[in-house]
Amino acid sequence: MTPARQHRIQVVAHRGASEDAPEHTLAAYMKAIEDGADALECDVRLTADGHLVCVHDRRVNRTSNGRGAVSALELADLAALDFGNWKGREDATESPDWRDPSLTSVLTLERLLELVADSGRRIELAIETKHPTRWAGQVEQRLIELLERFGLASPERASESTVRIMSFSARSLHRVATAAPCIPTVYLMQFLSLRLRDGRLPAGARIAGPGIRLVRNHPGFVERLHQAGHRVHVWTVDEPEDVELCVRLGVEAIITNRPKQVLSQLGRA
Ligand code: G3P
Ligand code: CA
Repeated sequence: MTPARQHRIQVVAHRGASEDAPEHTLAAYMKAIEDGADALECDVRLTADGHLVCVHDRRVNRTSNGRGAVSALELADLAALDFGNWKGREDATESPDWRDPSLTSVLTLERLLELVADSGRRIELAIETKHPTRWAGQVEQRLIELLERFGLASPERASESTVRIMSFSARSLHRVATAAPCIPTVYLMQFLSLRLRDGRLPAGARIAGPGIRLVRNHPGFVERLHQAGHRVHVWTVDEPEDVELCVRLGVEAIITNRPKQVLSQLGRA
């Protein structure tokens, strides 16, 4: 079905195995690990009292039974919310009951790092900084401090790095590259500027992270990124024909809500 690949494509579980379990919960990440994902993707935001939590949206309204902006809530406020029960509401008879608070309460990045450390196998983490401009460097600073505590940001271990930081914000990546040059950075993009068209990434960015639509609509783009020496990590790739396209283009990582399905398509499950 697909031509021979030169390398093993990394399969990254987007917000965990988020098609099967509520996104960004322990349940979703445990499922992704069980499914055999090579890496886990998560978005991080700062709470009002300075904790990094894994939440995609600015507000908690969509994914919990609470309301309000993450940045205006303290960790204790978030811990009182249910981040599981919204999942599958539209198809309640078919979907499992996501009500176990030990699996579906708010997930701190620290807890996710513990889960990975305890997994017993190599699992990489792709951490995305959300709205880093609002906090003027605090997100990156807290993030690097936490990674240092887990021994994941030391220059001595740069060659075996299991963590990378991603962002749509070039400024955020520049801050990371300046404070912790050993951590790989991924520049996320959904539109093409002239400079990107030539395969040039902003200063501080090492890996290219185009959205699948960009890849579909600009057939030569991945090749140009490769020619410019960048690895290419594509998001969010859920459809078999898009997986097929990524394989054909030789991308280095596929970020997907369906890690099990993608691994199976790649002949690895
Ligand atoms: O992995 C990158 C991708 O997650 C970016 O989009 O909105 O899902 O965070 P979003
Ligand atoms: Ca993300």
